[in-house]
Amino acid sequence: MTSLIIDCDPGVDDAVALLTAFGSPALDLLAVTTVGGNVPVDRTARNACILRQIAAREDVPVYRGAERPLVREPAGAGEFHGAEGLGDMAPFDPAKGCEPGGAVEAIVERVMARPAGTVSMAVLGPLTNLALALRAEPRLAEQLGPVAVMGGARAEGGNITASAEFNIWADPEAAAEVLDSACDVVLFGLDVTHQVRATEARIAGVEALDTPSARAAASMMRFSQRIEREIVGWDAPPVHDLCPVAWMLRPDLFTLRPCHIAVETGSDLTRGHTAVEFRDGVAGPLRHRWATAADADGVFDLLKGATR
Ligand code: BDR
Ligand code: CA
Repeated sequence: MTSLIIDCDPGVDDAVALLTAFGSPALDLLAVTTVGGNVPVDRTARNACILRQIAAREDVPVYRGAERPLVREPAGAGEFHGAEGLGDMAPFDPAKGCEPGGAVEAIVERVMARPAGTVSMAVLGPLTNLALALRAEPRLAEQLGPVAVMGGARAEGGNITASAEFNIWADPEAAAEVLDSACDVVLFGLDVTHQVRATEARIAGVEALDTPSARAAASMMRFSQRIEREIVGWDAPPVHDLCPVAWMLRPDLFTLRPCHIAVETGSDLTRGHTAVEFRDGVAGPLRHRWATAADADGVFDLLKGATR
């Protein structure tokens, strides 16, 4: 069983990923930590608690994390997630709120208390919390298992600027600190998440399950379907954040390539660009992995299995 901490900024695709994780007995969910990103952290923390309640997983603690990036001004992506972060779903006050204490302390405490390499992380928002945790406890990088991050862009180009993806762009200094650390980082960038799309048939398949978790996941994807059609002109929205969680459950659904990844922090034009180098030694050792392909039907089967 994989012991996992999910760090996220729900967010409609974060919500789909969380509902998948909450409904997957193969994951030993140690904590959900939240960060300001798609919407401010008060809302991402509340949303995580709401999703936990829908999935009846109050056994999983939720922590509130960083409200702003390390250096930059907070951004936000409310147009793609709704002002409250849950698309068309009306938020409510969850019966159980966040645990006392912060996300950074929760990450450090849980990882350092267990044998090296046995706790993995899925990071679905800006990497601020993990960067702060690495500053607080430098041994964390060696202690952590794989860190699966939704972030970055290479062949597909960016979704916030020509070359940058939102999670990396929102806090490029944090992303750079994490990638420069000894963490075993697997990056699921737009090159792969654009292959994992909520087609009409896939959304309808989840909707038909008609459970509280399936209805919530389908509502998130319906919202994205409408918004992506309006703003980007795509028929089927990518469900970016589902990828790292799906990889934790079924790594065989993804193709990864060893590489070296550096993040641009010095340029306004290319802020948050991920320079993915596959040639050994050209930029440094190939100590990261970059996802290039996904079995999207397999990924959506995981979502359905977890929400039925
Ligand atoms: C990423 O940015 C956010 O808006 C999504 O939740 C996802 O994590 C996609 O670029
Ligand atoms: Ca996210």
